Amino acid sequence: MSPRHFLACDEWPDEAVLALLARAAELKAGASPRPLSGRVLVGVFFDPSLRTRTSFEVAMSRHGGHMVVLEPGRGSWPIETRPGAVMDGAEAEHLIEAARVLGRYGDLLAVRAFPKAATWPEARADAVLRGFAAHAGVPVINLESARRHPCQGLADALTLQERLGPELRGRRFVLSWAFHPKALPTAVPVSAALAAARLGMEVVVARPEGFDLDPEDMDAIGAVAARAGGSLRVSAGLDAAVAGADAVYAKSWGALTCFGDPEREAALRAPLRGWRIDEARMAATRDGAGIFLHCLPVRRNVVVTDGVLDGPWSVVVDQAENRLWAQQALLEELLAGGGA
Ligand code: CP
Repeated sequence: MSPRHFLACDEWPDEAVLALLARAAELKAGASPRPLSGRVLVGVFFDPSLRTRTSFEVAMSRHGGHMVVLEPGRGSWPIETRPGAVMDGAEAEHLIEAARVLGRYGDLLAVRAFPKAATWPEARADAVLRGFAAHAGVPVINLESARRHPCQGLADALTLQERLGPELRGRRFVLSWAFHPKALPTAVPVSAALAAARLGMEVVVARPEGFDLDPEDMDAIGAVAARAGGSLRVSAGLDAAVAGADAVYAKSWGALTCFGDPEREAALRAPLRGWRIDEARMAATRDGAGIFLHCLPVRRNVVVTDGVLDGPWSVVVDQAENRLWAQQALLEELLAGGGA
């Protein structure tokens, strides 16, 4: 039987995701964590992290387990990830052996691998993440890939439930593209929209022309929204989208049509500095009391102003804390067969 991976929330049944959220809320309310003593999580970080790494290490120790962290090329061998590669370059170890060996040491693997491919059709295959899942022989958790950041999505959903819930149908969630000096992956915005869709919210993706999300991912968000009694639409007008909104989630992402061509992409985004969430935009939300979300790290006064981040709207630190509770619920599910 193949291991039960957690690579994308939309690859799990809706009820299973909702059960994780319920267990995360129980843990946050003081329920005893199920013991995971002697269990080991191996995290492989091809890219940097503050929240994901720390929250998983803390989560494992809260349950009496342990996490080992590897950063390939920094204290462990650089890893070749291309299938069939002739390995006469800098990489001494192939993903296939790395995954097989780490799967013998750990009860669970977790992998962060941002897109490195030259084209979007290549990057969207999430080959590094799925390569680990294919070869590890134990469950693999996605810590953010090109396509999904499901642990962030769980924390986003938990935050929406606790701030706006319990009934979220009919409430408007705006995913707002934001200016950023670099082209970023679409994993967080897609996962955030999936989270709001799963709660039955009216999801609006506000983005400038040229910054559409992957059509297959939009279909996935739309399908989840339809099952949950919500909706999905796209808007090119940020001000109209946030007016009356219940939640505004700012996130930049790169134009997929320019993927692998940073100069052309930068030229497309250069005139778009106005796509920033400020106090006036948050004041225009429902009763001036909409919540502001961001996965962090965030560039102050580029993506969002100081006044919003330090004002009454921001729930970004709660979101980051909720990574911990959601991941504790996930670890229980994968290692101990669910909550008590
Ligand atoms: N939100 C998030 O994944 O943060 P890190 O990149 O710091 O892990």
